[in-house]
This record gives sequence, C-alpha cells and structure tokens, in this order.
Amino acid sequence: MSVAIVYWSQTDNTGAMANILAEACGGEVFEWDGFSADQVADFDALAFGCPAMGDEELDPDFEELWNDCTDELADKPVVLFGSYDWGTGEWMEAWADSARDAGVNVVETVIAHLEPDDEAGEALKAAASKLA
Ligand SMILES: Cc1cc2nc3c(=O)[nH]c(=O)nc-3n(C[C@H](O)[C@H](O)[C@H](O)COP(=O)(O)O)c2cc1C
Repeated sequence: MSVAIVYWSQTDNTGAMANILAEACGGEVFEWDGFSADQVADFDALAFGCPAMGDEELDPDFEELWNDCTDELADKPVVLFGSYDWGTGEWMEAWADSARDAGVNVVETVIAHLEPDDEAGEALKAAASKLA
C-alpha cells in the first residue's frame, strides 16, 4: 500500500508525529503546501495532521486543503493526528466527527500533548499499522 502523510505544523510537534508515522509504515511525508487534492488518487491510504489552533480549530490554510481532499478520499483508510497543549483534544473530536459525517473512512485518530512522548509514539505506530 502506498501511504501519504500530509501535515501542517508551526513548531514541529505535529511534524515529529508525521515522521513517526512515516517510519512505521514507509509512507511519504508532505507538508501541507506541497500536496494537493489531485494527488490523493496516487495513494491507497492517507494520514492528515494538524495541531489544535485558533480556539480548538484547524489552521485555516490546512483546513482548505483538507476540505478539497475529502471529496477525493472515497473509502481509503485515513488517520487523523495532531499535537495540542492546553485543551483536551476537542479539536480532534470535532475534526473526526465532521470527517466521518462527510463519509471519510477515519480508521484512527492520534493526539499528542506537545512533542510526541513514548505513549503517543506507540499510538502512532498502532495507527500506522492500519494504513500499511
Ligand atoms: C494560535 C495558537 C492557537 C492554539 N490553540 C490551541 C487550542 O485551541 N487548544 C490547544 O490545546 N492548544 C492550542 N494551541 C497549542 C498548540 O496546539 C500546541 O502548541 C501544539 O503543540 C503545536 O503543534 P505544532 O508544533 O505542530 O505546531 C494553540 C497554539 C497557537 C500558536
């Protein structure tokens, strides 16, 4: 299976999560501005990462890309991931709910408090096994 891991990150905590996923499943990593919805067709499975920004929101630039990609994902397995700080993961719950409502096959979500620790690393490896 070919896997794309597409992420937005400001201070690289979500970037570190992307790299753990990529190492675990042999996926190809793309920063958000190096990926477009027409590339979804090239992959069997995808992971999308964005930290909690705004008030429990996705970054608006990333969200635009994500919305474009959702139309192309069909039933491909998708992992959503991202880092947060002071919240409780509400942004990820909202993201996963809206993705599933839009018909996306979300097989796993992984959140990490700031930099991914060992526990988050294990969760990312488990998620990667659902993509590979
Ligand atoms: C403008 C801004 C808004 C943020 N909003 C939230 C938030 O709503 N909830 C939260 O838990 N963390 C929030 N954070 C913290 C980031 O999610 C956290 O620092 C995360 O590790 C950043 O990930 P990154 O290193 O991939 O950019 C915010 C940070 C910034 C700079």
